[in-house]
Formats: sequence, C-alpha cells, structure tokens
Amino acid sequence: MARIKVLDKEFETSIPESEILSAVDGVAAKINQELDGKNPLFVCVLNGAFMFAADLMKRVNIPCQISFVKVASYNGMSTTGAVKQLIGFNEDVKGRTVVIVEDIVDTGLTIDGLVKQVKELGAADVRIATMLFKPQSCRPDVKPQYVGINIPEAFIIGYGLDYDGYARNLRDIYTLVK
Ligand code: IMP
Repeated sequence: MARIKVLDKEFETSIPESEILSAVDGVAAKINQELDGKNPLFVCVLNGAFMFAADLMKRVNIPCQISFVKVASYNGMSTTGAVKQLIGFNEDVKGRTVVIVEDIVDTGLTIDGLVKQVKELGAADVRIATMLFKPQSCRPDVKPQYVGINIPEAFIIGYGLDYDGYARNLRDIYTLVK
C-alpha cells in the first residue's frame, strides 16, 4: 500500500486502478444492456468526473451522445452545502434519456440539484452513473442506478477526485490517513 503526501495531508492507496477499471466494465455492461435503443445523452459533471466519463464512454457501445456541465460544491475537504452551476446546460433534452455521470455521490446534494434541473428541461428519464458512492452519507431519496464501487465515509483523492485541485491525475484512489 503506497503512502503519498498531497499538500499538508497524508493519503494511502485504497482502490487500485485494476479494481477501478473492472468496476467501470461492470457499469458499462449494465448501461449497454439497459439503454440499448434509447439513444442516451450522457452528461459528465466536471471537474471530477472527467476520468470516469472517459473510461466509461470507451466501453459504452450503443449509439449515444455526451455533453458536459461544470459544478462546484466542495471547498477543500468539506462540502459547502451550496451547488453552484458554473457552466450551464445547452443540450435539448426534451423527451430524452439522460445519464448524469459523476465521480462520487457523497451527500447527494450536487446530483439531486442536477437531476431536478434536467427534469425541468423536459427529459423523459434521468439516471445517475457514479464511479463511487458513499451510501452512509447520502440522503435516502438519492439512489444512483449505476454505481462503480460503494465506499465508506472517508475523504478520498485520485481518479479525478481532488484535494484543493491536486491529485486528480492519480490512477489509483487514495484515502486520507487520519
Ligand atoms: P455531494 O454533493 O455531497 O454528493 O458531493 C459531490 C461532489 O463533492 C463530488 O462531485 C466531488 O467533486 C466532491 N466530493 C465528495 N466527496 C469527495 C471526496 O471524498 N474527495 C474529493 N471530492 C469529493
């Protein structure tokens, strides 16, 4: 298990790249099976989901489109409680099946805000695909349909997830050492 230092904090490997990629295989297989013929629009939530979205889209083999939104609700290591949408949504989603692609669902606040916005724009079916899910921190009404890996309540970095903007480039996922 590798230990690394990012800014003032120590982290150690908790999910190796091989495990991440087999979880992405599983999510893609489920999407390929369930959304075949539905012409889904994937919406990648920047910044964190860029790596998961890239790996996922390489494995999705049904006709589909992908778009991007940018939101921020985190400041350092804790959520600010307010979701700011920084880059808006331009696609016409009326009547479409939309899959929101997230790096992690923690409290569920960010994804809940996005699901509501996409539904208000007239999407027929809005689903959530998240690489990581913290079921113990998430509000009970938020239930992602496609989950890579369930994780306990801990602060993690790597594979798109950051600590103050650093560590998004790491291939493995690391957990904060208390
Ligand atoms: P939520 O709104 O509380 O579900 O948080 C969602 C967003 O917070 C994610 O898209 C991440 O950007 C960020 N986030 C949540 N947990 C972590 C973590 O453990 N490490 C880094 N970022 C996180």
